[in-house]
Amino acid sequence: MAYSDKVVDHYNHPRNVGTLDKSAAEVGTGLVGAPECGDVMRLQIRVNPETNVIEDAKFKTFGCGSAIASSSLATEWVKGKTIDEAMAITNTDIVKELALPPVKIHCSVLAEDAIRAAIGDWKKKNNVAETAAVAVA
Ligand code: FES
Ligand code: FES
Repeated sequence: MAYSDKVVDHYNHPRNVGTLDKSAAEVGTGLVGAPECGDVMRLQIRVNPETNVIEDAKFKTFGCGSAIASSSLATEWVKGKTIDEAMAITNTDIVKELALPPVKIHCSVLAEDAIRAAIGDWKKKNNVAETAAVAVA
């Protein structure tokens, strides 16, 4: 199966690979796994406590090219967004941007889940009320 140019680009030059200090109050960590294939993705955000803007994001993904590209793209997209704006990113946006084929859609779901998990962790740490969970099929 051929990967799209954008997937190859993110795979060859992943943005924002790395780790943020998990114990810091302003850092949220999301760790998710895909039951379909066993791939694992960790995505972290650092949030400005005054503005709720995500100022930094890092990821580490053990997985396929599409999972790496999805998480790389996710870190790019969340940076500079508020928590609420970042919550609005869906896997469909990622599928479109990376032109993922149907068999690779779950890789983008992993990235959406990772964003939400990181935000959830940050909210819990900072006693921000969870907004009603969006149902993800
Ligand atoms: Fe092999 Fe995702 S299924 S890397
Ligand atoms: Fe499982 Fe990509 S995350 S194949």
